[in-house]
Amino acid sequence: MNIQSLLSTLTIEEKAGQLLQLAPFFFIKDLKVEVAGALRALDLSEADIFLAGSVLGIHDAKEMIAVQKKYLQRSRHKIPLMFMADVIHGYETIFPIPIALASSFHPDLAKKAARIAALEAQTAGIHVTFAPMVDVSRDPRWGRVMEGFGEDAYLASCFSRASVEGFQHDGIGKEGNLAACVKHFAAYGAPEAGRDYNTVDMSMHTFYNHYAPPYQAGIKAGAHLVMTAFNTFNGIPATVHQGLLRDILRGQMGFDGVVITDYDALQQVITHGVASELKDVARLAIEAGVDIEMASTAYFRYLKTLIDEGVIPLALLDEAVLRILTLKEKLGLFDNPFKGADALKATQRVRHPDHLATSERIARECTVLLKNDHQVLPLDKTRSIALIGPYVNESSTNGNWSWHGDHRLNETLHHAFARKGHDIVMAKTGNQATDYDRQDIDTLKQADVIIVCAGEQARQSGEARSRTRLDLPDGQETLIKMAKATGKPVVVLLFCGRPLVLKEILKADAVMLCWFLGSRAASAIVDLVNGTFNPSGRLPMTFPQNEGQIPIYYNHLNTGRPYRDERNEYVSKYLDVSNDPQLSFGHGLSYARFNYEDMRLDKEVMAINETLTITVTVTNDSQQAGHEVIQLYIRDLVSLPVRPVKELKGFQKVWFDPAETKSIVFELKAKDLSAFDQHGKPQIEPGTFDVFVGGGSNTTLSRRFVLKDVGIK
Ligand code: GLC
Repeated sequence: MNIQSLLSTLTIEEKAGQLLQLAPFFFIKDLKVEVAGALRALDLSEADIFLAGSVLGIHDAKEMIAVQKKYLQRSRHKIPLMFMADVIHGYETIFPIPIALASSFHPDLAKKAARIAALEAQTAGIHVTFAPMVDVSRDPRWGRVMEGFGEDAYLASCFSRASVEGFQHDGIGKEGNLAACVKHFAAYGAPEAGRDYNTVDMSMHTFYNHYAPPYQAGIKAGAHLVMTAFNTFNGIPATVHQGLLRDILRGQMGFDGVVITDYDALQQVITHGVASELKDVARLAIEAGVDIEMASTAYFRYLKTLIDEGVIPLALLDEAVLRILTLKEKLGLFDNPFKGADALKATQRVRHPDHLATSERIARECTVLLKNDHQVLPLDKTRSIALIGPYVNESSTNGNWSWHGDHRLNETLHHAFARKGHDIVMAKTGNQATDYDRQDIDTLKQADVIIVCAGEQARQSGEARSRTRLDLPDGQETLIKMAKATGKPVVVLLFCGRPLVLKEILKADAVMLCWFLGSRAASAIVDLVNGTFNPSGRLPMTFPQNEGQIPIYYNHLNTGRPYRDERNEYVSKYLDVSNDPQLSFGHGLSYARFNYEDMRLDKEVMAINETLTITVTVTNDSQQAGHEVIQLYIRDLVSLPVRPVKELKGFQKVWFDPAETKSIVFELKAKDLSAFDQHGKPQIEPGTFDVFVGGGSNTTLSRRFVLKDVGIK
């Protein structure tokens, strides 16, 4: 298709229509759709509707085909609709929520999950997914931490790249592949007070070093779309922010794909207070380089007028239409507007046993063993168990943003423990101790181990799900007290979409963080509890001692008065709690024990064009096989601006047989030691660095080297 010549045949109304994105029920009134919230009464005529360029929120091959057919029959220009949806961590086979995927420290798993999600979603007729969400966040009060990859830009960048590669696979023109949409640009994960949609204000130095890299990684991986964020960024709504969108996103980051707003975001620019009329919003947005307007009609209503009045040049509209038509061309829609949509294939493909098996395998690697006193776990099947708590017979383990995964098809923990041959003396759902009577307590005392299946509900994290208190809801902490009072070993299986304040939870003997692990969560969890598999997840986000510490994150600055010990009064500390987190970034236990020794650098002085090789010997000092996540951090001891006390610069997830020793090698180049200045330019400051290696960010195993500012011949 010759896009330029197609563009020249379009009227201005038809061009403006390509920028309009509507829900499917505008085309077929009785369609069942999941588009969140009621689309504003966008009093559009029939004629208007058949000018739209794309549709969001359809999830059924037959419906997609019906809408596309009706549209192509009615539209003059016959340009096919593009169909977009939120396929975040699975389509009907649901994978662990993204923060759990990040816990695997194994980006290839995210790639596999995205690949399968695309295969399933494409047969439903979807062309574009609004994923990956790569907003870094240092604030667990924010509900959407469940949807991102944690607090560290390096780790989130690895998962951003892997997800885009998984969704887009071997090209978006092929069936079974989705165009990826990196979101939300920018810094949506840093709302003040952790309250969703709230103000974001940060230095450009912080932005470039801690929030920008995962967007850049997704763009470099070839993402075809970027979605703008709801929040203001340093005083300007991101969705009309020329500095962010034209200068940084398209200029510095080199993004030449389609920019789409978030849901109704242009209408909200008025609410932000930047403009009093939608016509002005349309001008601001098109000048900022926004292409598709999701679920509002600023563009559709006013672009023609703005052009007729000479307020904006036609060229701005043409460039947006060109990007949209180019994306449709790359998707192959001009050749086949129904690309991949196949109701029969969809029934055969979704929740395919192979997909479910992959989801289970991934879930096992996303689970984090937080505590395991006296080696309570693994639990062999000869030891009887009692199951209490809200998740005993609960199947909703998919987590938020899993529209199509029917959680009613998921196995419960009770069923999985029984199916796998555990001796269950009691399995009773309850939220708090008062749900268990005297007889229950007596029965509990008959069990060898009590397992408390507890946590947040799936809808307590996700969009518009911020919390100020991060404790176990509904009085579930009384369950742990009740179980502990029996004198029996207590294990907590913890479901949540964010770091929680673990105070009571950590009084249990063992705690396994199960996040929301998707369609095969229960089976994966039971196999980890009984030692069939060894947990290997690590925390992608710091767990605070309490909400008062937030924001708390591992890659913090030293300050001029760091806390060292109680003798120093005038230092950076609290009167009522230590500065330490409850659990650190990178933390996670195993049934195996890993020893690190003999860390060596191949040079103590590194020229600017040399490679530093770091070697460390790691031994599995146990009879239990398993993965270790070997993490590499640096610290630039003297720099301007100052650098964090630790920065993750590498990790390797390595399998060890029992008693196996391996020599692990990392390489660092000068560019790995750089930081961005306030203009987004990488800066390398020669000088002294420490490099750390270990099983978590609190490792102290380190060596020192000097980076010289000269090259060697
Ligand atoms: C929501 C979310 C965005 C999602 C979009 C479409 O408000 O912010 O992430 O892709 O609307 O559902």
